[in-house]
Parts: sequence; C-alpha cells; structure tokens
Amino acid sequence: MKRKIIITSDGSSSILMEDMDETYHSVHGAVQEANHVYLKEGLHQISKRQFSILEMGFGTGLNTLLTALEAEKLQLSIQYHAVEGFPLTAEEIQLLNYPVQLDDPNAIRDFTRIHQTDWEVEMPINSCFSLKKVRSLFEELQLLPQSYDLIYFDAFGYPYQPELWSEEIFIKMYESLKPNGILVTYACRGAIKQNMRAAGFKVERLAGPPGKRQMIRAHKISKETALNS
Ligand SMILES: C[S@@+](CC[C@H](N)C(=O)[O-])C[C@H]1O[C@@H](n2cnc3c(N)ncnc32)[C@H](O)[C@@H]1O
Repeated sequence: MKRKIIITSDGSSSILMEDMDETYHSVHGAVQEANHVYLKEGLHQISKRQFSILEMGFGTGLNTLLTALEAEKLQLSIQYHAVEGFPLTAEEIQLLNYPVQLDDPNAIRDFTRIHQTDWEVEMPINSCFSLKKVRSLFEELQLLPQSYDLIYFDAFGYPYQPELWSEEIFIKMYESLKPNGILVTYACRGAIKQNMRAAGFKVERLAGPPGKRQMIRAHKISKETALNS
C-alpha cells in the first residue's frame, strides 16, 4: 500500500492511496468535508452535553482533532473511540498540515496528544475529550451493545471495500448504538442505503459538502417506530 500526502482544494492535507487511486478525504477540501459531514451533520445533531462517539477509520486523525477542539469550544464531555487497521507512520503524521491550517490555538496541542497517545488506552486529550485508539480491523472488532450515541463511518469508498458497507457491518453498528443514536457518512450510493435499511436504520439523505451532492445520516429507531413510519 503506497501512501502519498496531497493538498486538497481548501489547503488542508490528505492522503492518496496510489495503488487504489483513492483518497482519505474529498479532494475538494479535507477539513471542509470533515466539518460538514461529521461535525455539522453528526456532532451538532446530538442534544446531550455528555456523549460517546465511535469512529471507523481513524486515518490522519482529522475527524478526531476537529471533534476534540469542538468539544472544548462548546464545553461538552465526549468519550471517543477510533478504530484503525493500518495506522500511519510518524513520518507521515509529521507531514500533515492540520495544526497550522486550523485557526485554533489549541490545534497543535491536541493534534500532538492525539497522535502521541498509546493505542488501546483511554486518555484525556483536553478537559472535554477523551480518546481510545483501537488498532484492529473493524470486521474483527467486538463492540459492546448500546455503547455509542454517534458513529462516524469513514471507510474507503464502496468500490474499494464493499465488505465494510455490508448489511452485516451495519447490523454490528446498529447494535453498538444507543437508542436514537445516529451514524453519519460521506457516502450515499443505493446499495449502502439498502444495506443500512436492512440492518434496521432509518436512512436520511442530506446535502453533501462542496463537490459532493449527497451524504447519509442513519438513525437507530425502535422497530415499532420503523414499522409505523
Ligand atoms: C477514508 S480513510 C479515513 C480518514 C480518516 N477518518 C481521517 O480523518 O483521516 C479510511 C481509513 O480506514 C482505514 N481502514 C481501511 N480498512 C479498514 C478496516 N478493515 N478496518 C479498520 N480500518 C480500516 C484506512 O486505513 C483509513 O485510515
């Protein structure tokens, strides 16, 4: 797997998987996409002040960083678990420009802590955000039922890893969400929506970030509500 650091249209870095011709973020803007899909349509939809998030695909740690900074800004209390099968090297992390791209005085501090913290251990990143990075293939991970309020689902695209967008994987995530929990993802193809519905989710299509037409927010609703809706 050959990885190359690239700069996206909003000036923020991302990674290109050269063999697959697939990027970690939208080439129209990595920070812009993460803010739209995961913060605006995910984090900001949770009405609690204290909640838990599961991220599938930790990657560069960009979603984690933006969420940690937002938690402190809004004085929330967030417990965040991030799963990654193929962690970046220290050399690759050093080349990412998020701490300087983000207009936030705490970005360097949080970015450094996020990447220096050990895997498999829950650690505070700031006074409002704790992180556990889990090194595992998502398919092999056991998740506790009803543990998360919000899931950021950020796998590579369906053409590259359809097995991660399957009904089986969505059932696993549905079960790990608390009642009324939500899952957000940048993708929006028919097969994905179908597999989410088969897993029990109510699927909502939303406007995507610049350069992408649509994205998905999926809701864990009770079976009775689903049958009556
Ligand atoms: C689209 S990128 C995610 C970008 C990331 N959220 C970020 O902010 O940089 C997909 C990520 O999922 C990871 N991944 C791919 N297949 C996986 C698997 N089966 N289990 C766990 N992680 C996987 C990749 O290594 C990559 O980091």
